[in-house]
Amino acid sequence: MRTSKRLKAITEFIDENDKIIDIGCDHALLDIYLKEEYPNINVIATDISEGAIKQAKRSIQRHNLDEKIDVRIGDGLTVADTEEYDTIVISGMGFYTIKKILSNQEKIKNVKKIIIQSNTDIVKLRKYIIKLGYKISREKLIEDKDIIYTIIEFIPGVEKYDYKQIYFGPRLMENKDELFNDYYSKKLLKYENLLLQLPNNNIVSKLHHKKLIKILKEEVKVNE
Ligand SMILES: C[S@@+](CC[C@H](N)C(=O)[O-])C[C@H]1O[C@@H](n2cnc3c(N)ncnc32)[C@H](O)[C@@H]1O
Repeated sequence: MRTSKRLKAITEFIDENDKIIDIGCDHALLDIYLKEEYPNINVIATDISEGAIKQAKRSIQRHNLDEKIDVRIGDGLTVADTEEYDTIVISGMGFYTIKKILSNQEKIKNVKKIIIQSNTDIVKLRKYIIKLGYKISREKLIEDKDIIYTIIEFIPGVEKYDYKQIYFGPRLMENKDELFNDYYSKKLLKYENLLLQLPNNNIVSKLHHKKLIKILKEEVKVNE
């Protein structure tokens, strides 16, 4: 099955013996792709929305995968027992929804891998999941239809990160490619413009933006 560059990049973090729970599966495109790639993989596709689940079931049927993908309706991890999954995939949602889903510690205690593509607040996301007792094993930036997405894989463990690593991503910093430069130079430009617009009495925000601009300038090659 053809799928988006973003979803395909997420599947590259998955191995065929992972026991997947895909939370917020929507049309189950990721799950169909996975099942076609790895016929023996265990996949639970789940969504809170009735409409999404109907669509998921329709797409699964169209690909003759009924009975092969376990589709469930409900909120986050509440739909499954912990022994049914060891790999959590959450993509295309905002940080606060992701945070809420992962906040039930009992539900993530047996998990060997959490793969996240958040649409917002990547820095807060890194901080939050590290606090839950995970470290960042792999990261990737992917451009799809002019948007650059960050995919992060967390595994249980402890690793110390400094401010810059949390901001840029420790694994992304180890391999600064063209996309890294594009992504963070756009941020640099954004913060420089924001700084110009901030009123002089907004000292805290000005200092914050200045700090971000400083570290961005240290890590990004600005195209002249
Ligand atoms: C924008 S779609 C992303 C779909 C797909 N994961 C992707 O990356 O393309 C977000 C989906 O998450 C679902 N969702 C939001 N909150 C949820 C929750 N607490 N539990 C399960 N699904 C949720 C929504 O119903 C929606 O179908």
